[in-house]
Amino acid sequence: MFQLTYRSKISPELTVAEIENILIDARKRNNARGITGCLVYFEESIVQILEGEKRNVYQLFDKIKSDNRHHTLDLLWEGSTRQRYFPNWDMALYAPADDAEYYDSKEIFITNMTLLADLSKKNTSALLSFWSAVRKNLNG
Ligand SMILES: Cc1cc2nc3c(=O)[nH]c(=O)nc-3n(C[C@H](O)[C@H](O)[C@H](O)COP(=O)(O)O)c2cc1C
Repeated sequence: MFQLTYRSKISPELTVAEIENILIDARKRNNARGITGCLVYFEESIVQILEGEKRNVYQLFDKIKSDNRHHTLDLLWEGSTRQRYFPNWDMALYAPADDAEYYDSKEIFITNMTLLADLSKKNTSALLSFWSAVRKNLNG
C-alpha cells in the first residue's frame, strides 16, 4: 500500500461546491483504480492524501499536479504503509470552514487547523495526527 500527502493553494474563486463537483468524477475514477483518500479544504489551502497501488497513486498525482485549478503544490509525504487511513472513502471531503456545525466542536476544529498550519515535510507525526483527527471528524 502506497500513500502520498501533498498540500496546495487554490484560487479563492473556487468554491466548495466546485470542489465537490470535481470530486463527483474523481470518486468514480478512484473507485475504478482502487484509490482511496481524503481532501481537506480550508482557507484556500488543500491537503489531500492519496492511497492505493504505487503506480496508480503516481499516475493520479501526475494528473493532479498539472491541474490548473490549484497551484504551489508541495509534496509533504510519500511512502509505503501497512494499511489505508481512509479505506471506506473513494475520496472524502472535509471542508470545515463552510460547515457551521464544526465550529460547535471548537476544540477539534482548532486542533485540526493548528495542525494544518504546522504541516511540513519534516514533521511526519504532525501529519499522522492531522489525518487521524480528520478521520475522527468524518466518523463522528
Ligand atoms: C484539488 C484536486 C483534487 C483532485 N483529486 C482527484 C482525485 O482524487 N481523483 C481523480 O481522478 N481526479 C482528481 N482531480 C482531478 C484531476 O486533476 C484530473 O482533472 C482528472 O483526473 C481527470 O484527468 P483526465 O481528464 O486527464 O483524465 C483533482 C483535482 C484537483 C484540483
